[in-house]
Amino acid sequence: MKSFLAINDCTTDELHEVLDLSCQLKALYKSGRRDTCLEGKVLAMLFEKASLRTRVSFQVAMTDLGGSALYLKPEDIGIIGEREPAKDMARVFDRYIDGIMARTYKHETIVELDKWTGVPVINALSDWTHPCQAMADVQTIQEHCGDLKGLKLAYIGDGNNVARSLAFACAKFGMTFVCASPKGYELDDESLNTANAMAADCAAQTNDPVEAVTDAQVIYTDTWTSMGQEEEKQQRINDFQGFAVDETLLANAPANAKIMHCLPAYRGYEISDGVMESEHSVVFNQAENRLHVQRALLKYLMG
Ligand code: CP
Ligand code: NVA
Repeated sequence: MKSFLAINDCTTDELHEVLDLSCQLKALYKSGRRDTCLEGKVLAMLFEKASLRTRVSFQVAMTDLGGSALYLKPEDIGIIGEREPAKDMARVFDRYIDGIMARTYKHETIVELDKWTGVPVINALSDWTHPCQAMADVQTIQEHCGDLKGLKLAYIGDGNNVARSLAFACAKFGMTFVCASPKGYELDDESLNTANAMAADCAAQTNDPVEAVTDAQVIYTDTWTSMGQEEEKQQRINDFQGFAVDETLLANAPANAKIMHCLPAYRGYEISDGVMESEHSVVFNQAENRLHVQRALLKYLMG
C-alpha cells in the first residue's frame, strides 16, 4: 500500500493491519511509551477546507512519532490546481518532504497528487470519501461492540463522503450498512454496488429512518450540509426534517445502540443535544481514535 486514498482501494488485510496497528499504538501511548519511527520525517498537510480534528490529530501524530508536520491552510494553497497544477505541486513536494496529507473538494485532486509523487498520500477528506474517519469509526465500534462481524450500522442523513466510506468500511470489516436519507439525498447506486461487490448484500439504502434503526447496534449521523454546500443549507434543513437522530427516532432503536457522529455536530439539526450527550454516545471516543488511526497510517505508510 503506497497511499491511503479510499477504503475500497485497500485490501481487507491491509485495513486489518492498520486497525491492529492503531490499537497497538493506542495501548503504547496510553502506557506512556513512544514510538519514534518517523524521526526526521516531514508531512505536508494541504487543506482546501477547514478542519479541527484532522489537522490537530495528524500534527500531534507526526510529533508523537518523532517527525514534524507543515500545515498549509486554505488561505495558503487556495484550490489545488488553480495557482499551479496538482501534478507540479506533487513533484515539488516530492523533493522536500516524506508524505502528503490532503483535504480537497475534488477527489480527483488527491488521486492526481498521488499519481505524480513518489511519497505516500493520505486522503484527509474529499467530497467523495473520508477514509481516515471510517477507520477511526471502525476502531471505536470494535472497542464498544466487540466482534465487528454481523453488526449493523444505520447511517441517518445525507448520502455523503462520510456515508460512502462507512459503506465501504462495513463491507471490508464484515458489517452491514444501511443509509436512510430523504429522497434526492441518497447514497449513489455506484457506491452501494461497490460495497455490495466487496461483500454481498452488505449495503442498502432506504428513505425510512425508523426502519433503518430498528435492529441497528450502531446509529451514525453527520451534518446535513457538508463543506462546499453552504448555499444549500436552508433547502437541506427543510428537506431533512424527520431525519434527525433524536429521542423520537431512538424510541424505535435498541436501547443500547451506540450513537456516532464524525463531528462537527449541529445540535438541533442532525442530532439532538440529549442524544449527543447521552450515555450511549461515543462521539468523543471516535474523535480520540482519529489520533490513534493517524499514527497507525503514518507509521504504516512512512515508517
Ligand atoms: N471529523 C472531521 O474530519 O473533523 P474535522 O473536519 O474537524 O477535521
Ligand atoms: N460531511 C462533512 C464531514 C466533515 C468532517 C463534510 O464533508 O463537510
